[in-house]
Amino acid sequence: MLRFVMVFGVVLALGLSSRASGGDINVIPQPVAVERADGAFRVTPSTRIVAQGAAAVEAKKLAAALAPAMGFVLEPTASSKPGERAIEMRLDDSLSTLGAEGYELRVTPERIAIVAAQPAGLFYGIQTLRQLLPAAVLRPTRVDDVAWDVPCVKITDHPRFGWRGLLIDPARHFIAKDDVLRFLDVMALHKFNRLQIHLTDNEGWRIEIKKYPQLTELGSQMDWNLRHRDGTGPRCFGFYTQDDIRQIVQYAADRHITIVPEIEMPFHAGAEIVAYPELGIAPDRLASLEPQKRWRETSGLVAPRPQTVIFFQDVLTEVMELFPSRHIHIGGDEANIELWTNDPEMQAQMKRLQLKDAHGLHSWFIAHMDAFLSSHGRRLVGWDEILQGGLAPGATVMSWRGEQGGIAAANAGHDVVMAPTSHTYFDYYQGPAASEPLAIGGNLPLAQVYSYDPVPEAIAPDRVRHVLGVQGQLWGEFIATPAHRYYMAYPRAAALAEIGWSAKETKDYEQFVSRLRHHLERLRVLGVTFRPLD
Ligand code: ACM
Repeated sequence: MLRFVMVFGVVLALGLSSRASGGDINVIPQPVAVERADGAFRVTPSTRIVAQGAAAVEAKKLAAALAPAMGFVLEPTASSKPGERAIEMRLDDSLSTLGAEGYELRVTPERIAIVAAQPAGLFYGIQTLRQLLPAAVLRPTRVDDVAWDVPCVKITDHPRFGWRGLLIDPARHFIAKDDVLRFLDVMALHKFNRLQIHLTDNEGWRIEIKKYPQLTELGSQMDWNLRHRDGTGPRCFGFYTQDDIRQIVQYAADRHITIVPEIEMPFHAGAEIVAYPELGIAPDRLASLEPQKRWRETSGLVAPRPQTVIFFQDVLTEVMELFPSRHIHIGGDEANIELWTNDPEMQAQMKRLQLKDAHGLHSWFIAHMDAFLSSHGRRLVGWDEILQGGLAPGATVMSWRGEQGGIAAANAGHDVVMAPTSHTYFDYYQGPAASEPLAIGGNLPLAQVYSYDPVPEAIAPDRVRHVLGVQGQLWGEFIATPAHRYYMAYPRAAALAEIGWSAKETKDYEQFVSRLRHHLERLRVLGVTFRPLD
């Protein structure tokens, strides 16, 4: 796509083919408005970074981002002298029209100005600036023979959605803390702002909970993937201590990313049944089994008796202490609730509570979690199965089995995050299975991700505001190493970043791919494994 604008009295064609001294503009996600001018600003050791107050906090991040490749540190200062070439970063309320994450970036040969209403906007301005510089700026070690030129431009930018997320799954294959931090670095470059961490599942419990130490003592040590491998496969077990979690949360916050913890219930709960068999159906029989044998006996479904509600609320209490996220994910998907239908104790409980069926019991359980989280000022998020049997009043729905759940929930006045398998499951193949690493199934090529619009037409116009945004899923059953995780994520996550951020009107797949060719060079420099374009 080409857009024509008047800049300094000259008509310029914007987009991929635009060229002026200082290089092309190939930013991902595509900014809302780009006005190009001739010339460039050259960053040198004598360039000043000028910022005050909260802006100085972001300015330090810019200095830190530039230093490794440039080989010099541009210490931020509070002011510059007239005539000094400077990168100015400033908070300005008048830009609040661009929202909490919007920013303006102006580059002239003498000055770069990043201005925003909020620190997050300055941070996103920095991410754009990193992409305006030569790709070598992302190299972690010093590069000597590059002119650090930024093309002259005026960019006005803000995101389309407030939830631009990815999901990682250390429950299936544990992800070392440092690999999570690095993953966050790459997300930040793409202006993602949510990372959902799937902390618990049948295969493992990955977060230290002080009140229930066996969750990690027993529940984090299951070497489940030996079932699939010859015993030489990568380690799948481990857990995050509460100190690890605090470090991850802070590292993410420094990059304006909120970590959304997911504690699965009432299904995908095999690890806690291994640790505490009293949570399961027919607990006496479970307790008599060896711990590792317990979850398959129950398929990982807990019995939602009142003590089970208390157990999960205790867990959520510690989770809320660690994660400032307003949204706390409780899973809620795929529960094989016929096991409750067939269990005498659960039948009696349904009768006592005057619940029609097992769907009613599922809703009863989720509603307790919703009320508990709401009473602490948080919001429950769950997969779209939480709609069955009646949606809890405060719940946000993550729509994964297609869009229907999201449509129904939004039209009923609930917030939704769109995460359909058809467009956002990055554990699916991204090309012919014969030439790809073993994956869970499906087929989700890059173009299909890019084609997604998170606002289905079936959502009433006055309910569209309930679509918080979009999220890509990297389920971990088949992903055991960082290189494989990046390969599955990129470049599909780059397409998702653009869906979440860029204006719908500027969406153009060919133009995206053309920018992506430059962007892949950035990923290469960063050492991020990605799937090559076809
Ligand atoms: C899911 O993929 N079961 C949410």
